[in-house]
Formats: sequence, C-alpha cells, structure tokens
Amino acid sequence: MPLVVRPSKIHSVGVFTTTAVRKGTRLVEYDGPRITPEEADRLYDEAPRTYLYGLEDGKTVIDGEGIAAYFNHSCDPNCEIDEVKGRAWIFALREIAAGEELLWDYNLYDDDDPAPCHCGSPKCRGTMYSREWMAKLRRKARQKKAKKQAGRNSARKSRRISK
Ligand SMILES: C[S@@+](CC[C@H](N)C(=O)[O-])C[C@H]1O[C@@H](n2cnc3c(N)ncnc32)[C@H](O)[C@@H]1O
Ligand SMILES: [Zn+2]
Repeated sequence: MPLVVRPSKIHSVGVFTTTAVRKGTRLVEYDGPRITPEEADRLYDEAPRTYLYGLEDGKTVIDGEGIAAYFNHSCDPNCEIDEVKGRAWIFALREIAAGEELLWDYNLYDDDDPAPCHCGSPKCRGTMYSREWMAKLRRKARQKKAKKQAGRNSARKSRRISK
C-alpha cells in the first residue's frame, strides 16, 4: 500500500496515501512488541506522545512500531482499527482520495491526563478520549463533588450539635 509519513496539520507527522483507497481496504497492521497495561504505564507514564494500542482482551498492549504507529487521531476518521484473531489492522472506513491523511479515532480510555484533540473536524469532540470514557470521568467528578459536599454538611452538623 503506497503510504507515506509526512508533516501533518493535526500533529507533527502523520500518514498519507499517495493513491486512492477503496472503502474496506485492509491498509496496514498495527504491530509491535506486546506488553502488559502495567508495563505500558510504567514505561510511558510521563510521555507526551505514545504509540500504544490496547487489545480487546484488556491484558495486552501493542507498543506500536512502523508506519501504523504514525496514524493521527480524528473525531471524524476515514479509517478504523479492528482486531482479527488477536492482530490489529487498520481498515479504510470510506473511499479515500489520493493525498488524504489517514486517520482513526483513538477513543482513548483509562487515563485522566488532558488529551486535547486538534483534528479540526466540525465533529471534533475536543478530546481524543472516547465519549464513554469522558462520561465516566464526568460521573467520577460528580461523585467526588457530592462526597466532598456531604463531608462539609456533616462537619457543619457536628459543629451545631457540639454547641
Ligand atoms: C501514535 S502518535 C501519532 C503520530 C504523531 N503525530 C507523531 O508525529 O509521532 C500519537 C500522538 O500524536 C498526537 N496526536 C495524534 N492525533 C492528534 C490529534 N487529533 N490532536 C492532538 N494530538 C494528536 C498525540 O500527541 C498522540 O499522543
Ligand atoms: Zn477531534
């Protein structure tokens, strides 16, 4: 597949196709050493950019190597990543014209560091985290706030009782 790594408006460098791509084409394997989520956390905790992909088993993370690792994220992607028998492949989601940047939706999860998105799409959700993960983070923040408020209320109550 004629793919090239070139500077991208979205972030640093990205992957572009030099020829038109048919919808459904299997473009490239997202390959690299298999590590555990714990190893990934330990190795890349402070890294400003990572090349990781978590397999559906929840126990395996691919530490991406090669061209597949350079695909940038978009909230309105033209590619998707899918698992076939434990291997991750990038597929074209639609017909793609020659010269387009190839992008998939990272749908990040399992972290709460900021991950602002610069994909520039009108559908941009402002973050590379998935909608589901963002909802979970908001739920957690609401619960934390409610717990804090409940603590304050009970402290006030006990001050009243001790008078
Ligand atoms: C797998 S790398 C992609 C290749 C990367 N552009 C490079 O030059 O090495 C993933 C990193 O690229 C950046 N990135 C990719 N898509 C992005 C986007 N839509 N908005 C902001 N940063 C993005 C983030 O720093 C992310 O951690
Ligand atoms: Zn976006």
